Amino acid sequence: MSSAERPTVHLAAEHVVAGYGEAPVIKDVSLEVSGGQVYTIVGPNGAGKSTLLKALLGIVRVREGRVVLNGQEITNRPLEHLAHLGVGYVPQSDDVFDTLRVHENLEMGGYILDAKRRAERIEVVLEIFPALKSMLQRYAGTLSGGERKMVAVARVLMPDPTALFLDEPTAGLSPELTRRVLEEQVRVLADLGKAVLIVEQKAEAALKIADHAMVLVTGTVALEGSGQEMRENPEVTEIFLGGGRAPAAPAPS
Ligand SMILES: Nc1ncnc2c1ncn2[C@@H]1O[C@H](COP(=O)(O)OP(=O)(O)OP(=O)(O)O)[C@@H](O)[C@H]1O
Ligand SMILES: [Mg+2]
Repeated sequence: MSSAERPTVHLAAEHVVAGYGEAPVIKDVSLEVSGGQVYTIVGPNGAGKSTLLKALLGIVRVREGRVVLNGQEITNRPLEHLAHLGVGYVPQSDDVFDTLRVHENLEMGGYILDAKRRAERIEVVLEIFPALKSMLQRYAGTLSGGERKMVAVARVLMPDPTALFLDEPTAGLSPELTRRVLEEQVRVLADLGKAVLIVEQKAEAALKIADHAMVLVTGTVALEGSGQEMRENPEVTEIFLGGGRAPAAPAPS
């Protein structure tokens, strides 16, 4: 953890219970992530991964427990408020404005900045995502799934957030692009000192860049540990990595 020695952003969820109707979707989930770290959430479809992010972001109501950012309670605060506190969120879907051009999407992402700072930040995010340079005039609705994700992440980076919530940022990307987004972008953002909370279907690739990880099953933390522990845990391998990956070697007896 390269930036552990300087004061950093710190996000904590404490015994969060949240959901939409009567029965909670998220049942007593706690987690902690600091600047410089990637915290990965994996789990089967419908486990509540997106709901958990939304609960931490004040989009889905937290009924019990609390969310704390840098020592300040932010439970059920509106997302706009969190943007001013340095929180950025890339949702699983509806993450770009289709009817706007790429550069307009980036400008929207920097709406809380003044014009000069906004122009500076566009230059910075284009350095992070050079492939976007040739797409600036295109309408986001005409982009491929992977290109859209790039715009979505670039847009959220515009105000230079210190805490990033990413819901399946590699959806629709090839295995090679997935690896590059996770290793060359998401991991690098954490190494710049940001706290990154990421939900991924591609568990193996996402655990590889994780400092800490949880497996969420039916709204509860089924397993947690370091990214490496989770990758080496045959239970995780069997249940969640499945699909085409060689079974883990049996644990030495
Ligand atoms: N807006 C909503 N209103 C009511 N129930 C919802 C809503 N959104 C999600 N749910 C339910 O909450 C549960 C968790 O859904 P969620 O989208 O958080 O899962 P997920 O782990 O992100 O799944 P996936 O891997 O498919 O994205 C599911 O049973 C889902 O049907
Ligand atoms: Mg989801």
